[in-house]
Amino acid sequence: MSTSPAGIRNVLNETRVFPPSEQFASKAEFNSMAAYESLYNESTADINAFWEKQARDHIHWFEPFHTTFEWNAPFAKWFVGGKTNVAFNCLDAHVLAGRGDRVAFHWEGEPGDKRTLSYSDVHREVCKFSNALKKLGLKKGDRVSIYMPMVPELPIAMLACARIGLIHSVIFGGFSSEAIADRNNDAQAKLLITADGGWRRGKVLNLKQTANEALEKSPSVEHCIVLQRTKNEAAMKEGRDVWWHDIVANESSDCPAEPMDSEDSLFILYTSGSTGKPKGIRHTTAGYNLYAKRTFQWVFDHKDEDIFWCTADCGWITGHSYIVYGPMSAGATQVLYEGAPNWPEEDRFWEIIERYKVSILYTAPTAIRAFIKWGDHHVDKHDLSSLRLLGSVGEGINPEAWMWYFEKIGGGRCPIVDTWWQTETGGIMMSPLPGAIPCKPGSCTRPLPGIVPVALGEDLQEVGVDHGGMLCIAKPWPGMLRGIWGDDARYQEQYWTRVPNHYLTGDNARKDEDGYYWIMGRIDDVINVSGHRLSTIEVESALVSHPAVAEAAAVGRPDEIKGQAIAVFVTLKNHQPDEALREALKKHVRKEIGALAVPDDIRFTSSLPKTRSGKIMRRLLRDIASGKEGTGDTSTLEDFTVLAKLRSDEES
Ligand code: WT7
Repeated sequence: MSTSPAGIRNVLNETRVFPPSEQFASKAEFNSMAAYESLYNESTADINAFWEKQARDHIHWFEPFHTTFEWNAPFAKWFVGGKTNVAFNCLDAHVLAGRGDRVAFHWEGEPGDKRTLSYSDVHREVCKFSNALKKLGLKKGDRVSIYMPMVPELPIAMLACARIGLIHSVIFGGFSSEAIADRNNDAQAKLLITADGGWRRGKVLNLKQTANEALEKSPSVEHCIVLQRTKNEAAMKEGRDVWWHDIVANESSDCPAEPMDSEDSLFILYTSGSTGKPKGIRHTTAGYNLYAKRTFQWVFDHKDEDIFWCTADCGWITGHSYIVYGPMSAGATQVLYEGAPNWPEEDRFWEIIERYKVSILYTAPTAIRAFIKWGDHHVDKHDLSSLRLLGSVGEGINPEAWMWYFEKIGGGRCPIVDTWWQTETGGIMMSPLPGAIPCKPGSCTRPLPGIVPVALGEDLQEVGVDHGGMLCIAKPWPGMLRGIWGDDARYQEQYWTRVPNHYLTGDNARKDEDGYYWIMGRIDDVINVSGHRLSTIEVESALVSHPAVAEAAAVGRPDEIKGQAIAVFVTLKNHQPDEALREALKKHVRKEIGALAVPDDIRFTSSLPKTRSGKIMRRLLRDIASGKEGTGDTSTLEDFTVLAKLRSDEES
């Protein structure tokens, strides 16, 4: 335990270390700490020279770049003067190399329908669709919203935009018509690509109906292309709406990739900001493509024979970077799944892994905690021996959830890459290289090549070992966001003002004595108990290490004496909530962390409020913990319909 006047108290006593097995390391590209360190040191000794070589070796250039990096703070340009095309790198490069027959996607719909698409198949469909987009009058630089289920046509639509220089904005298929309209309007989108519907837990989500409501409020949108997926009623508007199958029917499969400037925008992806206004994170062409490709290869130690499955939706950055642009640039074979993990049964993921012999699984802590809650018997029914590597993204993973993932899913033989990054960073920033860096449960370990993290105190000085501080990135990197769509001032203000010359991530982190980073949650979520600043994840991890607990969320609420008191919201595995358990949990936290972190309030709930992408919304819980609606002390089980409703109104 350590304290710092400027820093955040570190109370997590996690000491387990899991080096990669001989077997794993012997086949890995980077197979020792020394190999990692040599790569890392080479990268930071001359960052520009490092990325220059990476870009020349790993991107196809129609025209070479003349300047590696231009910095007009905080506006970056990478690989200036170069021309490339991301769809070319993802498709043509493989087809031209004689690898067109490789499977790009083993796709599975929720009802069990299946399709296999090779790289040549995807190339052909992308070309046809690009030609159709041109016929609709779309021109380089135009914005296109995409609101679709997880079918192959979603990556196809993204790549078709990239091929001819249209800027896509993928909107997660669970969003409301207001959210779609806000995004259409902010980006001034000219086209919306959608589907009649998508499958979710055995039901059809009527996407076209939601899209129609959004289009009523989206004056910039001139056309709507509709994929027929579920064959439900879909009201089509004459002159505006066209069916996907109709417009591609007579299109040629010949469509040259448009040479794009390195710094042309590739996509906008909206994330939630603290204000209601959608925040369009803008990524560009060459730097993003390079960063997605190389981080994919480094972190997942990707080999030709791997079957990679990232369970994210293409509506999130994880799907952009680690389904579409990274893996496809690397020519990976992937599994793509449309539906829910618990349909028709809670073993759907394990069944898919067994059937396709998935070797790398990349999923989120929220899913892992759900699997734990659903029970081991679902896992035990299946042969998961094809797995060799596991990944986690989106939130911190509590050490006990990490251990379950490691033992139960990975059979104790698969390293876990806990990947820390953000929509803004474009790709993974910190993660083990699995053959080189021993894992510690709950730590994202070390920075990737070219990435220079630093944890700063309130005084903007680097905090000491094991002290938490504001996590910043000291040097620009090719995958970084280039701005917020239409709002340079907000970009500057949010990421580059509080700490001069550093990218402010908004997270807190500490570095341990081995140089490993531990993410401590969002800066705004820190709980201040009697002047001691505690990170939410540490209190939560202590609770999750109790056998009765499935999930926990910790927040601060005002307290006259301590400044803030700790309120925790807990979901249980198969236990009955009662006073005895409440006392047992307090005792458990006292033992794991100490008296300081013992929760003042413990509320049991059947579910926690989460964002659409699965992150616990501590902000909402903070309101409830300090709010007017009952003390939560009288009934053991809260009814969280209020939260459920709030959740359905909330964006990512
Ligand atoms: C925020 C970014 C990264 C793609 C999906 C989420 C949290 C993400 C981790 C991790 C601890 C993590 C951070 C980050 N986060 N990965 N491995 N350990 N926290 O992208 O929606 O832009 O969210 O998610 O707080 O800042 P995003």
